[in-house]
Amino acid sequence: AIFDDSQTASLAVAQEIAETIRNKAKKGEPCVLGLATGSTPVKVYEELVRLHREEELSFQNVVTFNLDEYFPIEPDSLQSYVRFMHEHLFDHINIPKDQIHIPDGTLDEEKVEQYCQQYEKKIKSAGGIDIQILGIGKTGHIGFNEPGSRKDSKTRLITLDKVTRTDAASSFFGEEYVPRRAITMGVGTILKAKRIFLMAWGEGKAPIIREAVEGEITETVPATYLQEHPNAAVILDEAAAEQL
Ligand code: GLP
Repeated sequence: AIFDDSQTASLAVAQEIAETIRNKAKKGEPCVLGLATGSTPVKVYEELVRLHREEELSFQNVVTFNLDEYFPIEPDSLQSYVRFMHEHLFDHINIPKDQIHIPDGTLDEEKVEQYCQQYEKKIKSAGGIDIQILGIGKTGHIGFNEPGSRKDSKTRLITLDKVTRTDAASSFFGEEYVPRRAITMGVGTILKAKRIFLMAWGEGKAPIIREAVEGEITETVPATYLQEHPNAAVILDEAAAEQL
């Protein structure tokens, strides 16, 4: 779907999330959200906070799993996705703390593999992800599934692409300070979500959106795997859609 601007598009995504949360709450069921970071979902979170404050949207029944986190990183550092999520969403809504899951960037390296397996198990035992929101990186990554990621990949430690580290350089005050690795949900983890929103704003995203949407399905552009998902929507502003 193509919207006039990112604001209108973000409202539409937030509305569908809110509706799912409310429907699940009525049935006494948890609503499991897969969440993303970066600039793209910020307005969706703003709108969810507004719905919480002004329209009594409750997050008591919401369970969240974030896509990814840099490795290693301290949760209180400026670029940490733990910090990002608290500042943009969790500190402003009534979600119980033990229902929030974000990959842990502070683990000892030898514990990461087991941790990732547990992350997968937790998603499964929560009932699977009802709605997954995604941004897209310049390499075509979703989460931090860089080119070469397999369709059936699971939560794991990955090495960041050079392009991704260059993109993150300004927020880390220099490319040399960008962590070389990250923990990310796999492509397979993401594809199991019942509903997916891939969002992109601005002309900078137009070339990779064209590849993701119209290109042949390939591990070289992991976002192309979404073409095979039965219930994935691509949510764009006009600028991001201009090469379609
Ligand atoms: C990072 C995140 C991705 C995100 C991408 C795009 O790499 N791990 O999940 O989609 O950045 O960021 P932005 O939304 O700021 O363009």
